[in-house]
Order: sequence, then structure tokens, then C-alpha cells
Amino acid sequence: MNAATRMAAIEPFHVMELMAKARALEAQGRSIIHMEVGEPDFPTPQPVIEAAQRFIAGGQVFYTHALGLPQLREAIAGFYATRYGVAVDPGRIVVTAGASGALLLALGALVSPGDEWLLSDPGYPCNRHFVRLLEGVPRAIAVDATTAYQPTAEKVGAGWTAKTRGLLVASPNNPTGTLIEPERMVSLWQAVKARGGTMIVDEIYHGLTYGTDARTALEISDDIIVVNSFSKYFGMTGWRLGWLVVPPGMVRDVEKLAQNLFISPSAPAQHAALAAFAPDTLSILDARRVEFRARRDLLLPGLRALGFRIDAEPQGAFYVYAGIGDLGKDSFALAGQLIEHAGVAATPGLDFGANTPDRHMRFAYTVAAEKLADGLARMERYFKA
Ligand SMILES: Cc1ncc(COP(=O)(O)O)c(C=O)c1O
Repeated sequence: MNAATRMAAIEPFHVMELMAKARALEAQGRSIIHMEVGEPDFPTPQPVIEAAQRFIAGGQVFYTHALGLPQLREAIAGFYATRYGVAVDPGRIVVTAGASGALLLALGALVSPGDEWLLSDPGYPCNRHFVRLLEGVPRAIAVDATTAYQPTAEKVGAGWTAKTRGLLVASPNNPTGTLIEPERMVSLWQAVKARGGTMIVDEIYHGLTYGTDARTALEISDDIIVVNSFSKYFGMTGWRLGWLVVPPGMVRDVEKLAQNLFISPSAPAQHAALAAFAPDTLSILDARRVEFRARRDLLLPGLRALGFRIDAEPQGAFYVYAGIGDLGKDSFALAGQLIEHAGVAATPGLDFGANTPDRHMRFAYTVAAEKLADGLARMERYFKA
């Protein structure tokens, strides 16, 4: 078999190796506290399960429109109106196989071979691999705590070349949980627009912000492309459903791609998601948000007390991006030691880019507070030993 040349540029998800190690230890009877997984531990909300059951019981499980069920596109538009006070034409909303499908469709419609795209580093690792798959060139914007681990208009200007076509950001971001303030979002858009580029904003962690409600980039301009998902706030990771909002002139290209790549998003998942915006579901989700906040407020001081350095506090998502300080020489080795000797799994920085990954780790607070407290206690015992 001759693998495509592009495969050389696609890296594995390094955390998988640690997860395999964690699983092997668990198979030997060891207990592991999982803080590596970026997936909420809450079950699918009951109204969503019931909607799916009703739909499947009818047996009419067929392909839907490639852009998604019209009533779900309407429901998503309704969510923008009620939650954000922003009017979005449902015709611009594309239902996708998770934010992953949304990113692939958006970039697939936009990236030509050799095009450069600016991405924050640290950032969500799959983004650079999507760009590479499409034979574009991901260009890292190194970010740190001085800009809340998010790009600025100045950094965009400095990184922009004749080949740059766009900027992709996430707010709140993974792995840092930091937000792009509304004024900064406007200045990023102005910087991109002034250069004739395209901006994609990944809003997958919206709904999971603590103390401040994130505003959608759609309120700035209809030309900004927005990605979102039912995975995180809606607690539906395994259903594989998300959405994309594109400018009117891009709908046809995305539709052609969606028809060819996916035919349609999952029908059961879409019918389930119709219940995701119901008031009883939203009240379940908002209670979970309160729980996530409590977990963050436990983990943050706990990690600091152990000697981790958190120089930009996460305002959203469910991650703490922590400098390892004097706790180890490199984060990959430290992650291995923590699994082996403390029974705590966390993700080393390596997965999130090339910007001092050896000095950082990501802790996910996707497990219950008692488990987080146990994880902190285990690490304390290990570091003191
Ligand atoms: C920033 C970001 N974007 C996109 C995704 C993909 O999510 P999904 O395809 O489950 O919607 C993730 C998953 O962790 C993420 O962290």
C-alpha cells in the first residue's frame, strides 16, 4: 500500500497513547482518574433521548436533506434569536456531523492547495490537520497568557503573507478555555477583512462559560463563518451532530460538498436534537453548567497548590491549561509518570501545537468533583513522595 504523501503531515493524537496506557493499567485493576478526555460525563438529556426513541420507533429512518432537516435549521435559527438576540436566516445554517464535519465542510469549500491559514498555537489539533488534508498550509500564531492565549489583530497582521487566506479561532478555546472578548473579535475580523481573508469562529464551547455569556461572532458580520456543535454544552458527543453558519454566497458550495461527502447528517441524531432547544432540556443543561463551574473552581486552586502555573484563567469550556513549573522537565514524561504513579490521566501539551508544549498540560474537568478532588489528592501524594 502506498499512503498519500499528505499522510506524512498528519500526526496522531498523542493523548491516545496515554489513554491506551491508562486502559492497560485499568485492565490490571489499577484505578485511574480521567482528566484527559474532552467529553462531558453527563448522559444525553432525557428529553433528547425520548425524541430519538419516538423517531426510531416510527421506523422512518431515511436520508434527510444534505443541509439538514429544515425544522432543525429553523430551531437553530430560533436559538440564535432567543439566546443571542441575533437574527440568522435558517437558509445559512448547515447541519453537520459534529463540529468536525462543519470544519471539514467549511475548510473544504475554502482551502486551495498552498493556501495558508492562521491558527492559534496552542489550539485544537485537528484544525491544522484539516488544513493539511486539503493541502493547505497551517500557520501557527504563537499565543500566551499576555493575550489570554488568543490571537490579536497585531499578531494576525504579523503572520499574514501573500498566501494567507484566513484565520480560524475558537472562543472559548481548547486547550485553554479562554475567550476572545467582543472588542477583540471585532478587531480580528477587521484585520482579516482588510486583507481580503475569511474568518472562521469555532463556538463549540458556547453555553459553557462561567460568569460571562459568550457572544456569537454572527452579531459582527454575516460574512463570518461560525461552527458549533451539539457535542459539548448539549452533551451529545456520540450523536455526532453540529452545525455551520455560512454567508449566503457559500451555501451552494457547502451543499455540494455535503451531498458528496456525507449525503446527509444522521437522521436519528437530528430528530433527537430537535428536543435540544426545549426549555426542559435547556434547564438541565444550565444546571450542568453550574456543576462545571464548581468543578473548575475546585480544580484551579487545587492545581495551583500543587505547583502548576495557570497564568490565564479559563472562562469557559472544561479545561485548565497549566504550566508544569518545577514539577517536571517535560510534560509528556510528567503525564506518563502521573498515570503510572499517581493514577491520574491528563493530556500533555504536545497535542496542541509547537508553542512550549513540553511546559504545559491540559486537565479536563469532565469528571465529578469528588473524582477531581481524589485526583488532586493523588497528585499531592505523588509530588510529596
Ligand atoms: C475546539 C473544538 N472544535 C471542534 C471539536 C470537535 O467536536 P465535535 O466534532 O464532537 O462536535 C472539538 C472537540 O473536542 C473541539 O475541542
